[in-house]
Amino acid sequence: MDQTVKIAPSILSADFARLGEEVRAIDEAGCDYVHIDVMDGHFVPNLTIGPGVVAAVRPHTKKILDVHLMISPVDPYLEAFAKAGSDIITIHAEAGPHLDRSLQVIHGLGKKAGVALNPSTSEAAIQHVLDKVDLILVMTVNPGFGGQSFIESQVDKIRRVRQMIGDRPIELEVDGGVDTNTANKVVQAGANVLVSGSGVFSAADYAKRIKEIRAAAA
Ligand code: DX5
Ligand code: ZN
Repeated sequence: MDQTVKIAPSILSADFARLGEEVRAIDEAGCDYVHIDVMDGHFVPNLTIGPGVVAAVRPHTKKILDVHLMISPVDPYLEAFAKAGSDIITIHAEAGPHLDRSLQVIHGLGKKAGVALNPSTSEAAIQHVLDKVDLILVMTVNPGFGGQSFIESQVDKIRRVRQMIGDRPIELEVDGGVDTNTANKVVQAGANVLVSGSGVFSAADYAKRIKEIRAAAA
């Protein structure tokens, strides 16, 4: 599969009062995916957005909406996020007892299915669903907030997940503390999709920063 590095700015660090404009700006700045962080105040200690906001963002870009659900239980919300216009729906391995079933539901809704791993979760938790996922997301911060420091111990996990993937057509996404300083090591370890929230949105010029992250990753 195409292993060109993709950049997925997380709109968690955007100006929510101007969200449509911000999404158009990262689209025009050359992002690949638009990463949307959904937090429930229970699985993670923060509350962000719901399917209504995903639906509101949808008309502002034709790019892939990469929706990261930090929700437990997640099954009752999958259909709403699919109908809102998500392209990839990623759920956490820790968020429910029946991961395989939830992934089947996402595929049944016609969407790509991703599975995310918290820093404390071993890649062994997803061994049984490797033939059923389109994307694996390795968290390099404890989920809940933007702007946290990159957790170095996860680089080895990225390497192990890349090995587990083998020649399967699965994308390997890394999320948390990814910027021009950390992009290279995660790509060297095997990542091909880089989420960056504060790394992109702290820049005055989003296009320039996305290019800088791509250059750092190369
Ligand atoms: C954290 C979210 C991330 C967050 C990344 O729980 O999943 O997507 O927005 O933010 P940065 O890139 O600032 O670490
Ligand atoms: Zn995320």
